[in-house]
Amino acid sequence: MYISYPSRFETYGAVKIYELSKVYSLFAIGAEWKPGLYNILDFKELGKIAEKTVIVVPSKNEDPMVLEGVLKAIPVYSPIILVSASTQAPLNMFSVEKDIAKTLYRVTGRPTIIVHQRDPVIAEELGQHIPGILDEDGLVRYGKGEGMLLSVLLADGMSAENVGFIDADNYIPGAVLEYALTYYTALNMSESEYKMVRLSWGYKAWSSTELYFRRTGRASAIVNTVLNKILSLRRKAETDIVKTSNSGEHAMSIKLAKEMTFAGGYAVETQELVSLLETCYVGVGEGLCPALPGSIEIYQVETRNPHVHSEKGESHIIEMIIESLSTIYHSKIVDDKGRALIIDTLMDLSYEGEPPPPLRYSIPSLNSKDFLDKVLGESKASVAYGV
Ligand code: GDP
Ligand code: CO
Repeated sequence: MYISYPSRFETYGAVKIYELSKVYSLFAIGAEWKPGLYNILDFKELGKIAEKTVIVVPSKNEDPMVLEGVLKAIPVYSPIILVSASTQAPLNMFSVEKDIAKTLYRVTGRPTIIVHQRDPVIAEELGQHIPGILDEDGLVRYGKGEGMLLSVLLADGMSAENVGFIDADNYIPGAVLEYALTYYTALNMSESEYKMVRLSWGYKAWSSTELYFRRTGRASAIVNTVLNKILSLRRKAETDIVKTSNSGEHAMSIKLAKEMTFAGGYAVETQELVSLLETCYVGVGEGLCPALPGSIEIYQVETRNPHVHSEKGESHIIEMIIESLSTIYHSKIVDDKGRALIIDTLMDLSYEGEPPPPLRYSIPSLNSKDFLDKVLGESKASVAYGV
């Protein structure tokens, strides 16, 4: 694939945020070098980076047909972790998901792990290190962020170098293939050990309506604007560099993932950026940034397939905006002026007052190989094939 080489970046302490790259050709592996474009040199190189990149698919009661399309679209070289929070009774959606993954394993033979977020074995292990991640039932809380944190540990246990996330409600398998190829390409392009690529969709639409292709998601439009304004206020120069504050489709080195603070639920994607800006921009002078003397590279790529996913309603979007803005509101990157801007933005959405603080979790320093072995060895719910 040819993606445009970003011609500029902005630095915030040790955080480099690159301008939005675009996809120029969906498939160009091995094609000749072109100035201004980046491409993976050959299939061997593609296979190498793909093998080292675990793709995580978080799923909560998504349409099994759509999930099957997603799994089939992930290149066979990458191991898969399906992290599910789907119902187990009375209808056992989780067992349907397991069967889909198992059937695919039989034909592809690629390493596949399927775990349930509410697995008591996982709660027992994680609860010792992050008590706050458990709910009143003593199980890991529901929430996309909680599922992602858990899968970072499992991917690390598999000795992966990178981890990439792809939602289970992607209706277009071709888009999923593009996401994976974009991850490989941008991660290969980066020269830092602490790297991330976040996708911005060229067009977005919902499966339940007459297709209408929007350029930006409603949550991203608001949260990007706020985050850019906060950065502008800090550096006293306007910026619109952040285009991916709510990007669910993103990938990063495990090394970077382990240094970040994750947030619960849908706050997770914005919190990642906030957390990096807290340690490596605002806190860089206090020696809080692990990447020093190097830097953290954040790439943003606009993909070409339309992103078509399931419509979860207006209140889901509003909730997502409140959760995302709360990560900024309750952070070290914001001052009184920024907080007032957030309150005003929320007021426009008919939400009064301060947003509640997000749940936040650092990655625990447990032995992730032991964690993986324990989950796979003792759990009745979670399974692995070819690992
Ligand atoms: P949106 O696309 O940002 O509007 O958010 P979605 O509701 O589609 O969620 C993104 C992905 O996370 C989907 O694949 C969901 O099924 C999945 N997801 C949502 N909540 C949870 C959860 O509590 N745990 C897990 N493991 N996945 C979740
Ligand atoms: Co979705």
